[in-house]
Amino acid sequence: MRTWITLALAWALALPTLAADSLRPSLLLTARAADQDLSGRWTYSKDLYRTGFTDINGWPAKPRMQRFRDVDVAAAEAKGGAGFFEYDLDRAPAMEIPGAWNSAVPELRYFDGLMWFQRRFDAPTKPGRRSFLRFEAVNYRTTIFLNGQEVGKHEGGFTPFVVEVTQALRETGNRLVVGVDSKHDAQTIPAEITDWDLYGGITRPVKLFQTPATFIDDATLRLTEAGRIVGSLQLNGPQPANQAVSLRIAALNLTLATRTDANGEARFDTAAPAGLKRWSPESPTLYDVEFEAGGDHVRDRMGFRTIAVRGSDILLNGQPITLRGISIHEEEIGPNPARRIDEAAARRLLGEVKNGLHGNYVRLSHYPHNETMLRVADELGLLVWSEIPVYWSIDWDTPAVLDKGRRMQAETIYRDRNRAALILWSVGNETPVAENRTRFHTALAETVRALDASRLVSAALLVERKGDTIHIADPLLSQLDVIAVNTYAGWYGDDTLDTVRRLRWDVPKDKPLLFSEFGADAFAGFRDPALRPKFSEDYQADYYRATLAMAANVPTLRGLSPWVLKDFRSPRREHPVYQNGWNRKGLISETGQRKLAFDVLAEHYKAQAK
Ligand code: GCU
Repeated sequence: MRTWITLALAWALALPTLAADSLRPSLLLTARAADQDLSGRWTYSKDLYRTGFTDINGWPAKPRMQRFRDVDVAAAEAKGGAGFFEYDLDRAPAMEIPGAWNSAVPELRYFDGLMWFQRRFDAPTKPGRRSFLRFEAVNYRTTIFLNGQEVGKHEGGFTPFVVEVTQALRETGNRLVVGVDSKHDAQTIPAEITDWDLYGGITRPVKLFQTPATFIDDATLRLTEAGRIVGSLQLNGPQPANQAVSLRIAALNLTLATRTDANGEARFDTAAPAGLKRWSPESPTLYDVEFEAGGDHVRDRMGFRTIAVRGSDILLNGQPITLRGISIHEEEIGPNPARRIDEAAARRLLGEVKNGLHGNYVRLSHYPHNETMLRVADELGLLVWSEIPVYWSIDWDTPAVLDKGRRMQAETIYRDRNRAALILWSVGNETPVAENRTRFHTALAETVRALDASRLVSAALLVERKGDTIHIADPLLSQLDVIAVNTYAGWYGDDTLDTVRRLRWDVPKDKPLLFSEFGADAFAGFRDPALRPKFSEDYQADYYRATLAMAANVPTLRGLSPWVLKDFRSPRREHPVYQNGWNRKGLISETGQRKLAFDVLAEHYKAQAK
């Protein structure tokens, strides 16, 4: 009896507590041009003991510590009197935003806590307009104050969020103060330990938008397997209902007219024009799509393609495809990356994949990357795997943590669902098999399919080894369209590379398989052609040759995203000669120096592409 009660309780705990349609962020502002980009010099003030929020003994913070107050400290001090301050964000030092504080200031290299940022700005507004601030990513917990008023909060380091500031905004001298707490714990996503650097801060742009009272908050389109273009548009504001809506793709001579329903939503469903050129890596055709509704208009550049699985094949536009890829962390090439990915940084990284490696695919690991990476992938013709940081060990049992994961997934899907390049949503990376973990991932997979049934669901799984056979026996397999595994035989453990070549795989035959990771460290420039030891470029190149030879014997293997394009910062990697805080599995060094293994993979992909 007890077992049944336990099972029922466990099952009830696993039930998603938020219905999928309640996961849509209340404000999106997708595909809208900003009125002001607030990137630039922001002042900052450390608050390691979080006294800006809570004072000693749990008492409320003292005004003299409340960085978010709308006070000109110098002017107040000039008036004299008993009051005093223990901060001043007007006279504080400044750093370049977007960017992580760990890379901006040497003494902040390992600062992991609450940092206050301030940006002053003017905002001339037209009557009847509404004002919003859109943060493209802040790592990890954010509290936003404008002119002394708290206007919003967010948790999650890699997805956008929007706060309305219509009431709090003023024409001149706005004081935007953002509290950013980078601390992770057992109930964050990811949890405390990862194999990447802290990167706390406002790591992507903050932009000001001013819209009509009723505006287009979101619009989406896609091509269906049945050859139709379908989508929707959502108005936000006081008059959303029964508004005239038009959709226009001039290059296809396509114009659609409809009206919004009582909820301000309009739907599109029309046969794809005969002249439509489908998006693919070889021909990444993008169209300017214009939406008009209620006097507002937005435009986006979109590609149209289909993606599906059939048995063990992945079908792009109905044709089987092999994914020639690489995994990428969100770090720009350079000696001191600050997770500042502008268009030039994105083009440099993705150009190494498209042109250097002859790739057609990137795994944007282990969290949603900067939207710029998705848009450049759309343009260059690189298919994309996207994932939220459900990475290693997460609190699988607390419903609030599952809701956090589902919200992150929703924020990612609503941001990126118009990107043709994006074909795979991953719901986890290397999470140890357990009942509570499988329930968590199953709920995430259900969320993905409820929000975006047009793409494929995967996860990077761990494998089991019995002698020279590798098995995949993960209960999560039934939830996945595409099986993905991380395999490191020949690097972790004591396998020789000859053993690696002989390894056999026991995998389900009815689904496509990806090697989502394999890799070996190499310190760029360390050569030893005679001994070929681990950490030498020679060993890394031999490792790739052996692993590619093994991969050739896996009949359902449909793609690779080896670990990793570029050496990246990790506090777990401290060998004083070879690592010094860098994970060296990159095919290029942190400054972009290609290693011997780069050419091994490039030759392999060049041959595959023929
Ligand atoms: C794991 C993990 C990566 C990590 C890599 C490594 O597979 O997914 O995030 O960096 O192995 O050990 O280098």
